Amino acid sequence: MTETETKPRVALVTGAGGGIGGAIARHLAEAGHAVAAADLDEAAAVAVAKGLPTPSIGVGVDISDSASVAAAVARVEAELGPVDVLVNNAGIDKIEPFVQSTEDTWRKVVDVNYLGTVIVTRAVLDGMVERGFGRIIHIASDAGRVGSSGEVVYSGSKGAMIAFGKALAREVATKGVTVNTVCPGPTDTALLKQVSDLSEKMFDAMRRAVPMKRIGTPDDVAPAVVFFAGEGAAFITGQTLSVSGGLTMA
Ligand SMILES: NC(=O)c1ccc[n+]([C@@H]2O[C@H](COP(=O)([O-])OP(=O)(O)OC[C@H]3O[C@@H](n4cnc5c(N)ncnc54)[C@H](O)[C@@H]3O)[C@@H](O)[C@H]2O)c1
Repeated sequence: MTETETKPRVALVTGAGGGIGGAIARHLAEAGHAVAAADLDEAAAVAVAKGLPTPSIGVGVDISDSASVAAAVARVEAELGPVDVLVNNAGIDKIEPFVQSTEDTWRKVVDVNYLGTVIVTRAVLDGMVERGFGRIIHIASDAGRVGSSGEVVYSGSKGAMIAFGKALAREVATKGVTVNTVCPGPTDTALLKQVSDLSEKMFDAMRRAVPMKRIGTPDDVAPAVVFFAGEGAAFITGQTLSVSGGLTMA
């Protein structure tokens, strides 16, 4: 790198071993970011990082465990540099009626989707504030905006992510750090396969409910994240954007 070239910004993407996270990692790398692809499934994260065109690493992490997150962030900083862009994408879901779900499932869903987002955000925030630059992007869900039957506690965890993002956006607004949320609708990944495995009829009804009459793809979602991560979005914070073919117009 010559002196006139600027160092690429470093993006940490959680859940990057999965469908939407993998696409986000790829699109951010194509936009010039160095990418830390982080996932509970370390092998999947490493495989994603290997295919990227910028300096990138795959990191194993459990976002619901503070010690695991601290170790992962330390590794990213040592190997790529401080985290400029955080994409809180890792998440879990279990599709079933609320009355059939157990407390164990509620706790897991809230621990990963909501508290995991809080833990990873806290781990990178001080550095962003010190450097006067940060982009935090949550991947919530339309379920968190309008509710989704069969995903009741999941919807609550995603609504919590949205509200957490708005409140944090206000606290750090003068520090050069923005916090925005992207809400995918039904998107073709392993997570959504639960629905088609449960009932093809339900899956088809979901598709027909989308004004554009198709299920989204990870490549539909990733460009919105690249936008919020970029210089052009510097004056946008605390916002929630649905990427769902018009399913949710809130
Ligand atoms: N697919 C959809 O229809 C849809 C719709 C709305 C929102 N979302 C959200 O998009 C995000 C990505 O989901 P996806 O559809 O790509 O699913 P996915 O299952 O393909 O990917 C999720 C990834 O998160 C990882 N993960 C799970 N728990 C983790 C933990 N504790 N620590 C670190 N990594 C962990 C998994 O290993 C997996 O690789 C999720 O937050 C999900 O809630 C998905």
